[in-house]
Amino acid sequence: MIADDGFPHALPHGPIEEVFPDVFVVRGTFRMAPLVTIARNMTILREGEDLTVVTSVRLSAEGEAALERLGTVRHLVRLNGHHGIDDPYYAAKYKPTFWTLPNLKHPSGLASDRHLGADGLPVSNARLFVFERPTVPESALILDRPEGGILCAVDSVQNWTEADLAVCSFVGRIATRLMGFMGPAKIGPGWRRLCEPKDGVGFRPDFERLLQEDFVHLLSAHGSPLRGSAKDDLRATVRRLYGVG
Ligand SMILES: [Fe+2]
Repeated sequence: MIADDGFPHALPHGPIEEVFPDVFVVRGTFRMAPLVTIARNMTILREGEDLTVVTSVRLSAEGEAALERLGTVRHLVRLNGHHGIDDPYYAAKYKPTFWTLPNLKHPSGLASDRHLGADGLPVSNARLFVFERPTVPESALILDRPEGGILCAVDSVQNWTEADLAVCSFVGRIATRLMGFMGPAKIGPGWRRLCEPKDGVGFRPDFERLLQEDFVHLLSAHGSPLRGSAKDDLRATVRRLYGVG
């Protein structure tokens, strides 16, 4: 698991795909436990020559060469309390400005350089959406783009398809299906189990608020890009779970 450089080694991943102009996704993997590998994505935003890496995933040497052809990694963004195992590697390799929510401490001890929201954001034409209800900090970016708003989520909204299952281990595939991950714009079942208050209200107010935001596409740390119907699909999910939306 640990490479010679002292950081977790790169796990299998796909190519860097330009999903929207200057918005890239890498479909990677994450080993949760022995025999349990699941799909996990990184998003890369480019402005001029500057790259902002969101929910980092360490790449192979070939992947890094492709990343470096895109531009220079200037910013590293951690949007929640769960993803971030590869942040120390990116911090050491590229010396980016490291952005996190103000109340988020990195388990490795990696210190934040800037706080999302309080110190602005590393990318222009973007807004930060902070969930208020989870027991562990969680947020998302919303990018204002000519092709329609793009919700960049981590664990909150996921969009698992058969293509995402294909990169999971056998046990990962079974667990993903059994836990109800499959389907468009799902609220992460594992995240709900871990972080949703059991008070009869749960995440409902956060998702009512999120549905007021302006977006039509979804890029998530889990699942495939969802184009055009992200808000409608999320509204259907919220209605099914909470009876509102
Ligand atoms: Fe996750």
